[in-house]
Amino acid sequence: MLVEGEGGDEHWRETRTTKSGYRLVGGEGTSRPRHRLAPLFRSRLALFVLALTTLVLALAALGTATGHTHKVVAHGVVTAKEYGARLKEWARPLAPPDDEPYVAPSLDELAQIVGENPTYLVKDGWASYGFNNQRYMLESTLLLAKIARRIPVLPDSIWARSCAVDDSVCEANALRFFRHRNAHADVVGSTWNDDGPAYKLPIQLFLDLPHLRRTYGPLLTYRELIELYGIDPNLYDESLRWNTTNYTPQGYTTATVPDYLFQNRTFVRVDQPPPPPVVAAPADEIPEGLNSAIVELALGSRAVWTAQQARDALRKRGVKLDGDDDGLVRQLELLDVVPLYTFGDEVLMNKALARPSVELALRNKVQPLVDTLASPPFNNASIVYLAGNLHDQRKPGGLYFTSPAARQAYVDLVVRGVRPPAGVRALGERLAERMGERVEGRRWLAAHLRRSDFVGIKWSPAQDAEAHFDKTRAALREGVEALEAHFDERLPRGDDPFYLATDERNATALAYYRSHGAVLLSDLVTPADSSQLGPSASYMDVLAVVEQQVLARSDYFLGSELSSTSGGAVNVRTALGKEDWSWALLTRQ
Ligand SMILES: *[C@@H]1O[C@H](CO)[C@@H](O)[C@H](O)[C@H]1NC(C)=O
Ligand SMILES: *[C@@H]1O[C@H](CO)[C@@H](O)[C@H](O)[C@H]1NC(C)=O
Ligand SMILES: *[C@@H]1O[C@H](CO)[C@@H](O)[C@H](O)[C@H]1NC(C)=O
Ligand SMILES: *[C@@H]1O[C@H](CO)[C@@H](O)[C@H](O)[C@H]1NC(C)=O
Repeated sequence: MLVEGEGGDEHWRETRTTKSGYRLVGGEGTSRPRHRLAPLFRSRLALFVLALTTLVLALAALGTATGHTHKVVAHGVVTAKEYGARLKEWARPLAPPDDEPYVAPSLDELAQIVGENPTYLVKDGWASYGFNNQRYMLESTLLLAKIARRIPVLPDSIWARSCAVDDSVCEANALRFFRHRNAHADVVGSTWNDDGPAYKLPIQLFLDLPHLRRTYGPLLTYRELIELYGIDPNLYDESLRWNTTNYTPQGYTTATVPDYLFQNRTFVRVDQPPPPPVVAAPADEIPEGLNSAIVELALGSRAVWTAQQARDALRKRGVKLDGDDDGLVRQLELLDVVPLYTFGDEVLMNKALARPSVELALRNKVQPLVDTLASPPFNNASIVYLAGNLHDQRKPGGLYFTSPAARQAYVDLVVRGVRPPAGVRALGERLAERMGERVEGRRWLAAHLRRSDFVGIKWSPAQDAEAHFDKTRAALREGVEALEAHFDERLPRGDDPFYLATDERNATALAYYRSHGAVLLSDLVTPADSSQLGPSASYMDVLAVVEQQVLARSDYFLGSELSSTSGGAVNVRTALGKEDWSWALLTRQ
């Protein structure tokens, strides 16, 4: 029996009708004429929220004549030039947490955000992905839009899939729910690894959107774009994918980059053109047997090589190489091989912005995104749509960087800009303090033991829940050694408990974990915590983001190699200034 429905959204709704008073990056201090249609649009926003069906009728009556076409949107000036100023904003310390509930920008504010003659970059979301997968996809959208000098448009919701309380509570609080999520592929456009419920939640329960706007600059959610341009909300579907036909505002053009042209095996996608070739060096700097023809022969068969792979390929061609990776990169640079800045393969799936690495490509295999977008039909399209899958088995950000500075700017963008809302952060901090009390002030360790659908798709280090735990615990011993190598005081004792984030639900297995020192979320969270967090505390998907904050605050963290939840925790650690040696990943084997 299939049951689905529209949940009541009053908890999220009350804050949406108020005017938000956004502090706009680039918009502070500039007084702009209020848009003459603003009151009409503000009231329409309220209608949208309070009575979707009424709005549909209203829109049908109004037609698109009152929609924000790109002329009507004209307001102030927010141009690409201001990105420079915004970059400086990243250097500011994090704003202190504000406990104010999320307030959606009014239509007038949205119009101010996008400015005059806005151009956009959109990319698909995926309904069947959890928050952390959506998050890293969104992070790369932010990056690609910055490279393209366009305003990113981001998916506006997350389909949560795990209820921490009674099902009826989760159903009532969701914007929409499916009791059997895999029976609705027609609506959501994809299926999940396993069946069960799905609850549609606004993304701002997971992500501090106002903070992201302050640190990043102009951005819109799908929903906001649709509201801003007066597009019939009935045309908006649940897939979180972009729909060119339905979502393109009147008078706007869309140019699509399909995924097989964005990246395929024949080339490597990079951000900017690489620096010009290095001027020929004295011959004695180049090892015997190494020349352009050999390099082309050895490295022409694939687009991008790790230093080790490049060394092996050249040795196979009889080139005698010694020296380290840096030396190899310098030598190959003289032969028009371009160094590319990225992150090591251990973060390929979890997308932690960590473990920086240098890889190599022949110059003629490198395709800069800026060059592609500078040519027709992309250069004059109002919307560039990057369609399809740009994340699976892809490096964080979805492309390689041609300078270490650009890679670092991406790390900064994410680490400073992408954070959960204040309530989630505050609860994570409190739980971490309680962990500290449990170990009487000594340093403590944490692990993320990812189970559920990962077991079915053989992405977990062991099928058996207890064997998986034993491996985790064994790996944590190396964490204790790392702490002992770096500190003299407050060192953990042998029998100290450790924090364990897990989605394992088997009661026997959980009892085993606890009896071997694990402290779980439910051991630390009180009813007062849940009520303080509000209705979003009903969803394990939100509590997992709370847990990430706890994991990030541990003195040593052991993550799951293939999990974006672990990757996100590593990024929070970076934001908190935790050292690189203080975490490791348990691999699938
Ligand atoms: C866009 O929506 C239309 C109609 O609502 C649908 O027929 C079409 O398949 C959608 N396109 C994509 C790419 O999902
Ligand atoms: C790969 O991308 C190149 C350049 O964007 C394109 O010309 C080629 O057709 C693509 N190949 C495949 C197999 O999609
Ligand atoms: C983009 O350029 C092409 C040809 O160069 C032109 O036909 C088209 O109208 C332009 N589109 C826009 C939105 O300016
Ligand atoms: C729960 O875990 C225990 C021990 O790990 C195992 O023996 C049992 O089969 C599991 N039960 C289910 C329903 O998977």
